[in-house]
Amino acid sequence: MANDAAQSDDVIVVDHVSKSFTLHHNRVSSLKGRFIGLFKQRWRQHVEHFHALTDVSLRVRRGEALALMGANGSGKSTLLQIVAGILRPTSGRLWTQGRIAPLIELGVGFNPELTGEENIYLNGSLYGYRNAEIRRLVAAIVEFSELGHFIDTPVKNYSSGMYMRLGFSVAVHLNPEVLLADEILAVGDVAFQQKCHDKIAELQRNGMTLLFVSHSMDTVKRFCHRYVRLDHGKIVESGVFERDQQADQIDGSVSSSTQQNANAAASSDRPGNAVT
Ligand SMILES: Nc1ncnc2c1ncn2[C@@H]1O[C@H](COP(=O)(O)OP(=O)(O)O)[C@@H](O)[C@H]1O
Ligand SMILES: [Mg+2]
Repeated sequence: MANDAAQSDDVIVVDHVSKSFTLHHNRVSSLKGRFIGLFKQRWRQHVEHFHALTDVSLRVRRGEALALMGANGSGKSTLLQIVAGILRPTSGRLWTQGRIAPLIELGVGFNPELTGEENIYLNGSLYGYRNAEIRRLVAAIVEFSELGHFIDTPVKNYSSGMYMRLGFSVAVHLNPEVLLADEILAVGDVAFQQKCHDKIAELQRNGMTLLFVSHSMDTVKRFCHRYVRLDHGKIVESGVFERDQQADQIDGSVSSSTQQNANAAASSDRPGNAVT
């Protein structure tokens, strides 16, 4: 159904997707415990189906940037993992188009025993690149990551900031059509974050689609036109960021206070004095 519903400029269609996880409470491991469990309810393991996402539908068109918002535990990462194809929905359908770069969790797609450079090749091949093509990109990836001579040491020795730098550099140099970013840019220093933001903006100007999770409202508004807010796995709100409204706020209080004065005057009981 998602297939039929997709229009030509859609790159992500999430169609009535639900995801539940099975939680095993009170897991009894001893033989004695299991034996007692045959007679006593309290000793029995019980299984709960936890609903991380319930009936979520959304679509993202080519070149759009959608922010996923919501408190911790609301299902943002679960949804991104479903879009990335890392998790399967329990019900509902997902349809995507184009090369998706998942910047989802530190180190996803990296083999800890391999060096940074070997992981560049590994990731490149996962994206469908040939070795010769990757070889041409390696220098730029290494330079952007600022990993220097650490690039030929195993990534298991990397700090979280180094993981992020490599992951981001690989993802953005492999020319993704869709970038999924899950709070990943919060790791690392301010200068590198700035560089990542500039790179994302550049890729967006070239038509890249973005699905973005961040706790920083400023960052979200900088990149995204639209947002969807999740609460306990359900979409409770969606909307558009007003560019003009943002500009007003940034320009200072002049325009908004003028507007307030006008409103106050208009609603006062001296209509003749209303400022226009
Ligand atoms: N693999 C899993 N097994 C069980 N529960 C999970 C698993 N992954 C996530 N959850 C639960 O699903 C809910 C949503 O998690 P998540 O998508 O990570 O939220 P967010 O990214 O918005 O903080 C949380 O309550 C979390 O504990
Ligand atoms: Mg999360």
